[in-house]
Amino acid sequence: MIETVRVEEIAKYAGQEVQIQGWVYNRTDKGKLCFLLIRDGSGFVQCVAFKGDLPEALFDQIMRLPQESSVIISGAVREDKRAPGIPGGYEVGIKDLKVVQAADPDYPMALKDHGVDFALDNRHLWIRMQSQWAILRIRATVMAATREWLDTNGFTAMDTPILTPAAAEGTTTLFETPYFDEGFAYLAQTGQLYNEANIFAFGKVYCFGPTFRAEKSKTRRHLTEFWMLEPEVAFCDLDQLMEIEEQMITHIAQRVMRDRLPELKALGRDLSKLEAIKAPFPRVSYDDAAKLLGELLEKETDPEKMELLKFDWGIDFGAPHETAITQQFDKPVFVYGYPTAVKAFYMEPWPGRPEVCKSVDLLAPEGYGEICGGSERISDHDLLLKRIHDQGLPEAAFKWYLELRKYGSVPHSGFGMGVERVTAWMCGIEHIREAIAFPRTIKRVYP
Ligand code: 4AD
Ligand code: MG
Repeated sequence: MIETVRVEEIAKYAGQEVQIQGWVYNRTDKGKLCFLLIRDGSGFVQCVAFKGDLPEALFDQIMRLPQESSVIISGAVREDKRAPGIPGGYEVGIKDLKVVQAADPDYPMALKDHGVDFALDNRHLWIRMQSQWAILRIRATVMAATREWLDTNGFTAMDTPILTPAAAEGTTTLFETPYFDEGFAYLAQTGQLYNEANIFAFGKVYCFGPTFRAEKSKTRRHLTEFWMLEPEVAFCDLDQLMEIEEQMITHIAQRVMRDRLPELKALGRDLSKLEAIKAPFPRVSYDDAAKLLGELLEKETDPEKMELLKFDWGIDFGAPHETAITQQFDKPVFVYGYPTAVKAFYMEPWPGRPEVCKSVDLLAPEGYGEICGGSERISDHDLLLKRIHDQGLPEAAFKWYLELRKYGSVPHSGFGMGVERVTAWMCGIEHIREAIAFPRTIKRVYP
């Protein structure tokens, strides 16, 4: 009985006969030789059929195999530095091939360039392509590395609800759904508020799940459904929070480089950019970032860029501002102490400067911008109640949240990390919609 092996481990089987179960990704014929590039979910490997080695009928069948046909191949693994594939460097000399299903020859995602709308309409097939496969493998590793770091650093995993009674990150991006006799429920914009309850039982927690924002923005960094990792920690201030973030992000980058090198190479990622992601990360106050933007604006001569960089103290940073700031560093950079007015209601004010809050965004280099947003939370009951009133939020829905400030309140902090944004950055890709298997955007809920 020949062992069925996974292509990602092919190097271990050099010189041996193995079986591979997969799909025909590409086929090239050279007279007596036919090269099949086979993908099996774990990688891509070149399999070679030689006319002289095979029964004539089988060789003919192989020569006519349409792309995406499912096959079971047995053959001998041999090292060949030139062999294409991921990881590449090995090929299989076909001894036998069984066609499980011969694919319909009119495969819509044939190996050529497609327009982005066509590709997105065919996302269920597009994910089979090398680039998309590599991105989604890296995404899975980003998620695994995140959990690994938190699980080994004393955090308890909690699952927070998706159906929630009120807004937590602004009322303009709520998805609403009828909810029996209760009126309406809203899809969670964050699990944070529930994690603030969880820390009083577990100390350090995280939730990791789908998150919903009815974002009107059609940028390359916004989805309406995305995955967010949210750690929350009791007895933790803003400085301690930044330490947690930089340690975790460093771990993620290290593990992606360790476990997904073939995928990163397939994407043509500049690895030196990932190697630079090492804690500590620079920390810049909003005030200093504003000054920096002023200086950059003075040096700028291109009127279009000047328009984009225009900035008054008090506004939130747009993508061009974030890009300009991060270009000054080769690592991700923390910007902390944003104006209270542009941030969420629950953020602790800066001591002696109520117009500033203890918030921090982590901005990634190369134009990726905000990947994490977090803050120290208001721990005082009355101040929090005032904020809820000021923002016109329904007090009744926040009764439980306010009570957390009555029974053992402590300084506490947390942040949220967008999985698609981190994945896009690790991969060096343009748009975060490719960093999730089935993206949801303002114009798309299909397939
Ligand atoms: O900065 P945000 O809105 O923070 C929160 O929701 C906090 N409650 C998190 C917390 O402190 N527990 O979102 C956090 C991160 C952003 O930095 C970004 O990476 C990602 O979530 N994100 C989005 N990703 C894709 N599409 C969107 N529409 C996103 N909105 C936020
Ligand atoms: Mg944010």
